[in-house]
Amino acid sequence: MSRAVKMTRLGTREKLEARLAELGLSLPIDDEIEEEGPLSHAFDVGGRSVGNRFAVLPMEGWDASPDGRPTDLVKRRWSRFGESGAKLVWGGEAYAVQPEARANPQQLCANPRSAEDLASLRKTLVLAHKAKGDRTEDLLLGLQLTHSGRFSRPHGELLPRTAFRHSVLDRRVGVEDDRAMLTDDELDGLIGDYVRMAKLTEAAGFDFVDVKACHGYLGHELLSARTRSGSYGGDLEGRSRFLLRTIEAVRSEAPALQIGVRLSVFDRHPFIPGEDRLGVPETSSHQPFGASDDGLGLDLAESHQLVEWLAATGVTLVCTTAGSPYYNPHIQRPAFYPPSDGYRLPEDPLVGVVRQIDATAELTKRHQGIKFVGSAYTYLQEWLPNVAQAIIRAGRADSIGLGRMMLSYPELPRDVLTGRGLERPLVCRTFSDCTTAPRNGLVSGCYPIDSFYKRRPEAERLAEIKKGLV
Ligand SMILES: Cc1cc2nc3c(=O)[nH]c(=O)nc-3n(C[C@H](O)[C@H](O)[C@H](O)COP(=O)(O)O)c2cc1C
Repeated sequence: MSRAVKMTRLGTREKLEARLAELGLSLPIDDEIEEEGPLSHAFDVGGRSVGNRFAVLPMEGWDASPDGRPTDLVKRRWSRFGESGAKLVWGGEAYAVQPEARANPQQLCANPRSAEDLASLRKTLVLAHKAKGDRTEDLLLGLQLTHSGRFSRPHGELLPRTAFRHSVLDRRVGVEDDRAMLTDDELDGLIGDYVRMAKLTEAAGFDFVDVKACHGYLGHELLSARTRSGSYGGDLEGRSRFLLRTIEAVRSEAPALQIGVRLSVFDRHPFIPGEDRLGVPETSSHQPFGASDDGLGLDLAESHQLVEWLAATGVTLVCTTAGSPYYNPHIQRPAFYPPSDGYRLPEDPLVGVVRQIDATAELTKRHQGIKFVGSAYTYLQEWLPNVAQAIIRAGRADSIGLGRMMLSYPELPRDVLTGRGLERPLVCRTFSDCTTAPRNGLVSGCYPIDSFYKRRPEAERLAEIKKGLV
């Protein structure tokens, strides 16, 4: 790979286009952001009008209380999501359907006071939106429901619950035999947990739930459980059964809710630091979901089929994403600076951005009955608005999802939509501190840019960790 080039060095259209050409990529880019242009156009989701084309992607903060309840840090994040001006809020963050399903001991999770917690989180977000002078009838708010599966860490240590035996990932999470595998009966029971949480979400006034199927967590891992026997593995029908049954059960028990799915539409083999810490794939006979036979390229055939089934089951929204932050972070969240447990860039992050944009475009064009929210735009930095507008104009996605940029610069959508232009000091430069901090047991937030986190004691500790002093 030729060395990645920093986005700040691609400040003119000519330079960006030359770099894209060098990488063999193409990306639509508008010259000007239009007032009342495509990004400000409302669109319909299951009969609801959503006021513009920006979406807040889910981002957990490892900062809930030990019993899974929102803290002031969680509320601050949700409030900023509300202030952003984005009209679609995808989940806020992953909410575990049972305490044992948490990916960390400070994740929001089902608890005896979930009903009031959800109502208060929703209220926090909606009031913050209103306080900015925005109407709320065109705001669509969903909650992401999850089971962390292989990456469950409900009490700190890994407590993996897997879908099948995976020679590479089992070793990474310390699984040595079949005992970590969830049985079909356990999966049947788990559907009840999703339904219980969905009903509480409905009662709290949310508009949709996301039955999460991404990033290597349980709902995603099942999609590639080719070697699993029984009801929930084998062919694509079997591998999709848990997801589809959960959706059907939620639909019948919480009929006022729309249903979305956040889907890793493609995956890759896990990566490891190789020579000189350069990321290299750790290959195995396992074929990841949405990947070519060798696990190193893309094959969206199964993703298309699954999306067709999702549409037939009444799903109205899909949020596309890819890979996993645990085993191939450069696929999932392209960044110039890898997280502390990552590896040196195996490709220019622009390649990862365009890979997700192109896959989303292919799905959006083919499945007209579903609205698609795309991901992985943050790395585009100053170019984000120009690419976002061109993508919406061309019908290559229905909404532009923003993740890390929401932590450093939550009001980017508002500034773009009101024609104020970008506040450059707030633009996320993908330092990956928001990932490195929680990997080291610290709350997640934007330490390099958000002065609130800069001032916290964790900032000092994070700096020491990054210098290798801890
Ligand atoms: C700190 C952090 C926490 C995240 N938590 C979640 C999560 O709870 N659920 C989820 O689906 N994705 C999660 N993601 C992934 C983001 O939603 C998004 O896919 C990713 O950051 C790429 O989008 P971006 O380029 O706009 O950042 C998280 C990402 C970060 C950086």
